[in-house]
This record gives sequence, structure tokens and C-alpha cells, in this order.
Amino acid sequence: MKIGFFDSGVGGITVLYEALKMLPNEDYLYYADTLNVPYGPKPKDEVKQYVLNAIEFIAQQGVKAIVIACNTATSVAIDDLRSKFDIPIIGMEPAVKPAFEKNKDVTKRILVTATALTLKEDKLQNLITKLDNEHIVDLLSLSGLVQFSEGFEFSEEKVLPYLQEQLSKFDLSNYETIVLGCTHFSFYKDMFRKVLPSNTNIIDGNIGTVRNLKRTLEEMNSTNEGNGNIIFYNSGLRVKEKALLDNYSKLFNRLDDINILMANT
Ligand code: SIN
Repeated sequence: MKIGFFDSGVGGITVLYEALKMLPNEDYLYYADTLNVPYGPKPKDEVKQYVLNAIEFIAQQGVKAIVIACNTATSVAIDDLRSKFDIPIIGMEPAVKPAFEKNKDVTKRILVTATALTLKEDKLQNLITKLDNEHIVDLLSLSGLVQFSEGFEFSEEKVLPYLQEQLSKFDLSNYETIVLGCTHFSFYKDMFRKVLPSNTNIIDGNIGTVRNLKRTLEEMNSTNEGNGNIIFYNSGLRVKEKALLDNYSKLFNRLDDINILMANT
């Protein structure tokens, strides 16, 4: 059986990329809710309904586990999903705890970036309240990066000025760690590196999430009988057009060179 991956759009590919490295002997179904992306600026109840509908569809395809490779969807729907579906559901952890572990200099701050909805949801707020005794965390919504990646826009010419402008709201020399709390942002790690002081830690929750998936599969005694095949769906429709599959494939190549098998028959 396949493993289902869900995101509002293309951001979850940055998590699937890590899964292909850590769990190459599995097959995958990737569902992008392209009709309703972006989730970040929308009301919670609306987003929750989109997520429930999508997971219903993925579950019907017969998958052995589902990764919600979207921080916004995880924030608003993970508890409902876990009570509604019998399939194991793995959500994105905002990497705030690892950020505190990385932040060695007690005088330095942590910048958490995510969508507007993730930033105001209880999941993140409660975590920050629990960990941030010294009030060293600041928050920044970077919804423009969702728009850029959904438009397959990765040129420095277009994206770098946006990132520079957004990050100029902060004195970056005061920050030791930045959290990428939205899977779409991980496509732009190199650009973050260009704008941030060179010793800044840049972390996301992608590898941690795939480790959770691996642990879950082990606990299920799941056998891995795939070979890294991926089938793509856009809001319930199987993607078969070569041009779009090529675009998805290029997204993996942006992250590194790994061998992607697109099951497009
Ligand atoms: C979005 O759809 O606004 C991005 C969702 C996310 O990856 O958190």
C-alpha cells in the first residue's frame, strides 16, 4: 500500500523529498489542494473543511498512513482528522523545540516564520507559551513565498527582494535561529541563507516529520514493498499532463538530485 502525502499545494514536496531519501522502498500518493490554495489567509473553519474533504479522498484510495505535509492544515485539523480516520495520521511539527535546542547564545532571539493562520493557531501559540519563558521568539508571516512557489517562481530576481523586504523588519544580527514553519518556505532555504547573517541556524520540521512517519510504520510492522513511485493528484484529479508532471519533477530537482519515478500511466 502507498503512503499518502497531503498539502494545500506544492510545499509538501519538500517533505516528500525527505521521505524518498529515508524511505525509498515505499510508493507514494501526493495530493495538492490546488483549487483552494493558499490556506494561510483563509478562515480556520473553511480550511478545516478543505482538509477533511481531501483526507477523505486520500483515505478512499487505500493508503497505509497519511502525512499532513502542511503546517497550516496540521494546525487547524490534526485532532479532528485523528478522531475521524483509523489510518495513522502524521502532522507537521513546527520546529520550535529544536529551535530552542539550537539557540545556544542566551542573548540571541528566534524568528518563527509561517502562514498567518498557523501563527495565530493554538498549536503554535501553546508551544511558544510553554517554551518561551524569556520572550525571545518573534513571529513573521511570509505568505508571499506560498504564492511564489505555487506559481513555480524560484528566480532570485523576483523572490529575493520580497524576502529582503520582509526580513528587514528585524535586526537580523539579534537572531541565532530562524524556523521555517511552512513547508512551502523550504524551497527558498538558499535565499534565506543569502539574506541572513551566515551563522544563523535555519530549521524546518521536514526531517522530524519523516522520522515520525518511519517510527509509525515500524510500529505497524509495515512491509516496504515499493520503489519510490509517486502518483500526483490535484484536488481530487489524477495529474497526467506531462507539462505539470515535469513541473513537479523539477521541484524535486530544485531540492537536490534524486531519482524520481513519476507513475503517470
Ligand atoms: C498555504 O496554503 O497558505 C500554505 C500552507 C502551509 O504549508 O502551511
